[in-house]
Amino acid sequence: MSEYKLCVIPGDGVGREVIPCAVEVIQHVLPSVAIVSADAGWDCFTRTGNALPPATLAAIQDCGAALFGAVSSPSHKVEGYRSPIVQMRQHFNLYANLRPTRELNLSGHDAAGQPGIDLLIVRENTQGLYIGREYMRGDEAIAERVITSEASTRIGRVAFDLAVSRLRRQVTIVHKANILPVTDGVFRDAVRAVGAAYPDVKIDEVLVDTAAMLLASKPRQFDVIVSTNLFGDILSDVASVWGGGMGVAPALNLGDSVAIAEPVHGSAPDISGRNIANPAGAILSAAMLLRYRWKLVDEAERVERAVFTAISHGIRTADLGGQATTSAMAHHILDLL
Ligand code: NAI
Ligand code: MG
Repeated sequence: MSEYKLCVIPGDGVGREVIPCAVEVIQHVLPSVAIVSADAGWDCFTRTGNALPPATLAAIQDCGAALFGAVSSPSHKVEGYRSPIVQMRQHFNLYANLRPTRELNLSGHDAAGQPGIDLLIVRENTQGLYIGREYMRGDEAIAERVITSEASTRIGRVAFDLAVSRLRRQVTIVHKANILPVTDGVFRDAVRAVGAAYPDVKIDEVLVDTAAMLLASKPRQFDVIVSTNLFGDILSDVASVWGGGMGVAPALNLGDSVAIAEPVHGSAPDISGRNIANPAGAILSAAMLLRYRWKLVDEAERVERAVFTAISHGIRTADLGGQATTSAMAHHILDLL
């Protein structure tokens, strides 16, 4: 029996094109890995009436590690359907969502000796507006936003633990406590209290709208950003632009005993089925499993280097201005490995 087991859930749309590429990469750097395939998503829901079958939850639990593509979720309420990724995060208590952005310089010109963008968004992953308590009361449409001190402390620890091992050692707390003083007050105060135990880490705080502006205009000033669920989701899409966009951005949902890697992007119905989706986000997400779930840092770095080298060789999909297909880019990455 292999020490490393990976549950693979391609999901819908481009998930089915990019996840097989990432699996090949994992198998290449970790030949002993045992692969278990599982089903989830909109297509699964229309076939079986369940977007996240119990067998999939059991497989993830058994493996302790999963690679998830993306699912297509309708933007209107469909009876019986809830986004499986949100359910998985809650079911396995995957309380931290790590979303790194490293500057991708496609022009090949150095930014005049400036240190590149290297930031990490640590997003609380189980609470906030994503708890799914949305309902009508007469004419009022209501969404509850739940923040606890316990979960805020827990995500604060993740942020500071990661910050101490980084070059800049800086944590920026992003919130909107001027408008939401109760919920975001709890979040901000809990994270600040955690920070008191890390004298080597600088702490600052920024309101979320200003943070969005600064991520778009002065991204180099950030190191680790810690935020609540929805704000972290939105800000990581903004940050992803500096790293080459949605096709490149990786993410890891991390709990105490299970981790689920997933590219930040969705099912991309506008490009799916054409072998043109960028596999880098999925492959870099797989590298995050290697690094954070299995502590295989050398293997993770090898994979990351291969991805960025392939891009610098000009083997790029259309979203990065190139002409490579999904499979050509993945093959080049495998060749480099
Ligand atoms: P999306 O991320 O699927 O697409 C946004 C844009 O990025 C599109 O122009 C798309 O072509 C591009 N893009 C995405 N992945 C790419 C890749 N690998 N390579 C190159 N370009 C890529 O977001 P959108 O369009 O808002 O949502 C589409 C569907 O995905 C919806 O049903 C939504 O619910 C779902 N979704 C699922 C997520 C998940 O499962 N974690 C996350 C985000 C959206
Ligand atoms: Mg998102």
